Amino acid sequence: MNQDELKKAAALAALKEVEDGSIVGVGTGSTVNHFIDGLAGMRDRIRGAISSSEASSKRLAAHGIKLFSLDEIEEIPVYIDGADEIDGHFCMIKGGGGALTREKIVAAVSRRFVCICDASKQVATLGKFPLPVEVIPMAAAQVSRELVRLGGSPRLREGFVTDNGNLILDVHGLSISDPVAMETTLNQIVGVVTNGLFARRGADVLLLASAGGVERQLR
Ligand code: A5P
Repeated sequence: MNQDELKKAAALAALKEVEDGSIVGVGTGSTVNHFIDGLAGMRDRIRGAISSSEASSKRLAAHGIKLFSLDEIEEIPVYIDGADEIDGHFCMIKGGGGALTREKIVAAVSRRFVCICDASKQVATLGKFPLPVEVIPMAAAQVSRELVRLGGSPRLREGFVTDNGNLILDVHGLSISDPVAMETTLNQIVGVVTNGLFARRGADVLLLASAGGVERQLR
């Protein structure tokens, strides 16, 4: 099985996590795209979805899945999303696709976060994957200097603007031994909108696909 087939296997396993009659939280990325395509097959059993990006909204709408906004819904049972890295405590780096802020918002209103990924995403320590940080455009240089002070090497994601009209700094060279502390520290830099560490609110369930099948792990 290649990596995309593993992503698809994890994504399709997540269909079992969806409750009948519910509104489903939907993340962003190539793994989630497989989930959305699978969800189309059970469209009549759900009320609809809350999406974390314009890209996922477009795909959901193309399948005829009704979209809800957070103005209409206070809480959802489950949020399904991928990750760029996940550690043994189910803390994650996310935002490789640049949708981290809306992903964090939808995750925050979800009772359960189900992470779907292939085994290559599992790591002992987070940080090999460059950590995405969404910044207000006018603050990019100032935030970069702060990130250097914290030991990182930030690089502006060239030619990319988030769904919120902001920029992404990808921070290389961080070895994140305390993800909760790092997430909190980064959030306090003026001009940072969100960082891609999902540690204070990590995953509750991991559906991890490898050549041997999809393993369901609980935090
Ligand atoms: C999107 O912004 C990300 O958080 C994705 O969830 C993450 O990058 C995983 O992406 P893939 O499923 O494409 O590997």
